[in-house]
Amino acid sequence: MLHIEQLNQLRALRQQWRDAGETVAFVPTMGNLHSGHLKLVRHASALADHVIVSIYVNPMQFGANEDLDAYPRTLDADMQALVALNVSAVFTPGTPDMYPRGIEAQTAIEVPAISDVLCGASRPGHFRGVATIVNKLFNMVQPDIAVFGKKDYQQLQVIRRMVEDLSMPVDIQGVETEREESGLAKSSRNGYLSDQQKRQAAVIYAQLVTAGQRVLSNAQDFPKIEQQANQEIAQAGLTPEYFSIRRCRDLSTAQPGDAANELVIVAAAKLGTTRLIDNLEVASLK
Ligand code: PAJ
Repeated sequence: MLHIEQLNQLRALRQQWRDAGETVAFVPTMGNLHSGHLKLVRHASALADHVIVSIYVNPMQFGANEDLDAYPRTLDADMQALVALNVSAVFTPGTPDMYPRGIEAQTAIEVPAISDVLCGASRPGHFRGVATIVNKLFNMVQPDIAVFGKKDYQQLQVIRRMVEDLSMPVDIQGVETEREESGLAKSSRNGYLSDQQKRQAAVIYAQLVTAGQRVLSNAQDFPKIEQQANQEIAQAGLTPEYFSIRRCRDLSTAQPGDAANELVIVAAAKLGTTRLIDNLEVASLK
């Protein structure tokens, strides 16, 4: 497994593989890898001749009051985990190379509407930062396929939209969320939680499943389902931010009469200072 820090090295390697007619599947990450990330890597390695994983904690997608400085950086452990898998190269660029003129002066990608709702409403500029870095990474890695987790459902849909709107020649693949036994979605931010808080946090997935089953059994009073879920989440000691039944494709609000298998339920809540997100595609319950 190669460890690449410089863009010119990455470009040379990519050219070599292109000349040999070899394909690349790409998994962008911010590191602190857990079994969710590794699932994406395994998925990627079944799809192409080479897998490239990037590890870069992207400052542009963090808000001023967010956890950029505290975000866990565990490069040695991450490299060890990736060596055990079928990864050709790990790319770990530095901020001076990624943002040579600084973040304020950076040309940015704006994916309208879908970036402004849900997480985008409470994290202004977040998806602008995500879309911009993913676009830059795509231009650097030039992958045939890129693999993202459904855990960050809105992110996945923002990227799908960017790729469509900008006619980018990359096949975007979404992979199912990896969970703890309790149902809690694996996340680097779970490291901020105590064992007791992890047990409390399992309420989010439990409520997604309950709500999903109600939607599947044709309940149409979506605001009532959402309100009851928020109550249960609050009862468990979390502060709900949103719990919302949406259309998968554009994350617009679900309407009575919508087909259940085109809906996704998305949730965000705070536990102490830690913000947790999760979601469930209703079709996955069938
Ligand atoms: P990060 O949070 O490190 O996640 C990297 C990828 O792993 C994302 O596609 C995310 O959806 C996926 N992932 C995280 N937890 C998962 C889980 N429990 N099951 C399955 N997949 C999971 O998302 C980012 O980094 C950044 O925004 C990035 C796309 C790298 C741009 O900076």
